Amino acid sequence: MTSQPTTPTTTATDDVVRVEDLQVNFYTQLGVVRALNGVSFNIPRGKVLGIVGESGCGKSITGMSIMQLVASVGKTEGGKILFNESAGGNPINILDYERNSPEMRKIRGNNISMIFQEPMSSLNPCYTISDQIEEAIRLHQTEDKVESRKRAIEVLTKVGMPNPDRIADSFPHELSGGMRQRAMIAMALSCTPTLLIADEPTTALDVTTEANILDLMRELQSEIGTSIMFITHNMGVVAQMCDEVAVMYLGRVVERATVDDIFYEPRHPYTIALLQSIPRLGRTKGILASIEGSVPDPYSRVTGCPFHPRCPVAIKGVCDTILPEETIVDAAKGHTVRCHLYS
Ligand SMILES: Nc1ncnc2c1ncn2[C@@H]1O[C@H](COP(=O)(O)OP(=O)(O)OP(=O)(O)O)[C@@H](O)[C@H]1O
Ligand SMILES: [Mg+2]
Repeated sequence: MTSQPTTPTTTATDDVVRVEDLQVNFYTQLGVVRALNGVSFNIPRGKVLGIVGESGCGKSITGMSIMQLVASVGKTEGGKILFNESAGGNPINILDYERNSPEMRKIRGNNISMIFQEPMSSLNPCYTISDQIEEAIRLHQTEDKVESRKRAIEVLTKVGMPNPDRIADSFPHELSGGMRQRAMIAMALSCTPTLLIADEPTTALDVTTEANILDLMRELQSEIGTSIMFITHNMGVVAQMCDEVAVMYLGRVVERATVDDIFYEPRHPYTIALLQSIPRLGRTKGILASIEGSVPDPYSRVTGCPFHPRCPVAIKGVCDTILPEETIVDAAKGHTVRCHLYS
């Protein structure tokens, strides 16, 4: 890798980020974990893209790759991450920069920020909440100590933190799980990023705080046009928050569509199964559907379509041998699917 961009970079639509054929492998003592096997998707400027899929399918690794924060045993072995800071600007390939280069440090936390899935392991236990938020503000926005403190309190107030002055001087272990999550969100929002990667940002919160945080993120998105990559397991949150959805399975995006099409016209058998396994209010009879089997062991390689061992409509001799290409279902709405039933 070099510290200067070398890749000719263009995006057809005004995408804030376009991920193309991203491949990430982890080399562990037990073998190679193929975490991302060619992930491709785009996030149009100012939109919210939901990323859904079962545990282990590569949602967090995709988000961390955009921030260049994947653990060092993880190697990015192919693909591009084209990031375009402003409309009409020239996209850069994030993978052209060294992970610790000055360029990457400037982008990280400023242009792109991330709300991590685990607030306790992402907050530094040795520093107060205010120290950690102010550090980001001083690095990217103002070096003035009084001003950075003022902004830290403002952003803590915005995320609904009770008594923000006192909380600012607390250490992470002195806060409840929900408060830590809100502190993480405040840190990510402090520099009004162009792209916010939110990795299950409300999982640890009660439903009322969750609703407040979702409102806050929507507000940010409409006020300053922040684009959001919203990783979640919760299809209800997807319906409420997202404009478009990418469904991931075993390190690949298997379907991508507008939020309406995902709910009303899902095509991939995996998406259909995911939707059928959501409990619905008013449904009193029958057993809740579940997806047969489980996600294959990440060390093994499945031939053909990775979903075929669990797919109720798999075609013998086709789905178990040939990897499906991406098929365009509706070009106008950007609906694509990776399934032999449509190719
Ligand atoms: N540091 C690591 N070393 C080895 N394998 C890893 C490491 N981090 C992630 N993986 C593997 O990469 C794959 C994708 O993990 P990832 O954390 O992206 O899943 P996820 O979709 O975010 O799941 P969840 O919904 O549980 O958060 C998994 O198989 C996981 O075991
Ligand atoms: Mg995750």
